[in-house]
Amino acid sequence: MALHAVVTGANRGIGLEVARGLLARGWQVTAVVRSDETGQAVTRALGAVRVVTGPLDELSQVRRVGATLLEGPPISALVHNAGVWPSARVLTVDGLEQAFAVNHLAPFLLNHLLGAHLANARVVQVSAGLAVKGRVDLERTPRGDDFSALRTYATTKLCNLALTNRWVSSFAAKGSSYAAVHPGVIRTGLGDRRGPLGWLLRLAKRGWKSPEEGGANVVKVVAAEGERGCWFDEARPAPLPSAAADPMLADALWRQAASLCAIAAP
Ligand SMILES: NC(=O)c1ccc[n+]([C@@H]2O[C@H](COP(=O)([O-])OP(=O)(O)OC[C@H]3O[C@@H](n4cnc5c(N)ncnc54)[C@H](OP(=O)(O)O)[C@@H]3O)[C@@H](O)[C@H]2O)c1
Repeated sequence: MALHAVVTGANRGIGLEVARGLLARGWQVTAVVRSDETGQAVTRALGAVRVVTGPLDELSQVRRVGATLLEGPPISALVHNAGVWPSARVLTVDGLEQAFAVNHLAPFLLNHLLGAHLANARVVQVSAGLAVKGRVDLERTPRGDDFSALRTYATTKLCNLALTNRWVSSFAAKGSSYAAVHPGVIRTGLGDRRGPLGWLLRLAKRGWKSPEEGGANVVKVVAAEGERGCWFDEARPAPLPSAAADPMLADALWRQAASLCAIAAP
């Protein structure tokens, strides 16, 4: 039976190329996308892939996505790729800042919902080198009370990356492996916005690497090519950045995420 990968945010950008790259290697792919409309875009781009829809900024929808995934084929790889760089503070239906919900809580909850059902699987988090620029404020970050159009993305990516060592241990105990990867600085729609900053960003992006290059870096980590490790900088193993290796921060974020997701902290 073909290996089966679940890829979130597979309808465009890096996620689409991860899905395409895995399909080219003979994997079966389930694309997790926000809506039926984006699901149709994936099918048009990739052909026969299984599509599971649900916005990842709503905890109840993440739970529904997790339950639907468990009804599908056994998962060999889970790729948390969906991400958002918000230009304004937007609160979700759960009252959380949207990037905190999508970049940090959705992967956390999916790992909990699916983790016990994975066997000998590979879990890969598409992270960002910019995580080291994050400043986590445990009180204010979840609801975006410290919102910054420039820093919130990095902060929510740091929240997520700070849990790397916890996930490595947790998945190892279940016979699976976990790694985070910076895909490169890639020309996608991430962070697109109006105004002078948006114009400057679009100009800068012209010199950035292609989505295909970003996707290929992630695919290498999914396929566990190269040396073992838990942090990959464009597919090269590297030491986990010190900002993300603080066990006290990890512990606090883990307990907070479990509480926000209303699950028992293991
Ligand atoms: N591009 C870079 O230079 C770069 C660098 C470092 C890390 N990364 C990381 O790479 C990953 C992919 O980013 P990208 O550059 O490919 O960005 P992108 O082109 O903007 O794609 C983002 C993906 O995430 C999905 N997504 C966002 N919010 C969602 C939500 N609430 N519910 C469901 N899906 C949602 C989007 O779906 P919709 O189409 O429905 O919005 C889209 O599929 C992200 O985790 C990002 O942080 C990117």
